[in-house]
Amino acid sequence: MIEITDPTVRLTLDHELVGEEVQVGAKLFSDAKGWYLHPGCLPDETVMYRVYSYTEGNNTRSGNLNSGVTILSPVTVAGECNMTRGHWHEERACVEFYYGLSGTGLLMLMDESGRTWAEHVFPGSVHHIDGHWAHRLINTGDVDFAVGACWGCNAGHDYRAVEQLPFGARVFKEKDGSISVVAENRQGGEVTQ
Ligand SMILES: [Fe+2]
Repeated sequence: MIEITDPTVRLTLDHELVGEEVQVGAKLFSDAKGWYLHPGCLPDETVMYRVYSYTEGNNTRSGNLNSGVTILSPVTVAGECNMTRGHWHEERACVEFYYGLSGTGLLMLMDESGRTWAEHVFPGSVHHIDGHWAHRLINTGDVDFAVGACWGCNAGHDYRAVEQLPFGARVFKEKDGSISVVAENRQGGEVTQ
């Protein structure tokens, strides 16, 4: 007879990772307002998105993996769709998978020359992200946008490079609900749609 146990971590029907080893964080508007074209007038304590992450063992060991979920609220900032901060991996060789879980949005990608493009994300979509591409999630829908992820523990997060070379486009929700993608006015790079 073999031993059969339950896993210590699970994904709820609301796409939250639950378990003792799960790390949970919330990004508030007070920390995010600087990424938007117009800082807008949301209360500072507005939760823009929640991040759940989980691994076992050494959380920096090459070869080990993180599993995570990001859930973005359906809010806009002066019309601009809610988005994650976006990053490259410190270790550019480390790729990442994203999986659409609920809601709809965009995965914005940018190579190191600044060329920017995006993929539609929806429940069931799968996205392979090269480590040389900066990546950012954007909620274009009217409900929570949940995306699963799996990435190497030694990948790290390089936020500074995105501050030095911002993504080449911004995404807005118009009053009629339509989505518009606007090229960012910055040096370098090109935008493809
Ligand atoms: Fe990443």
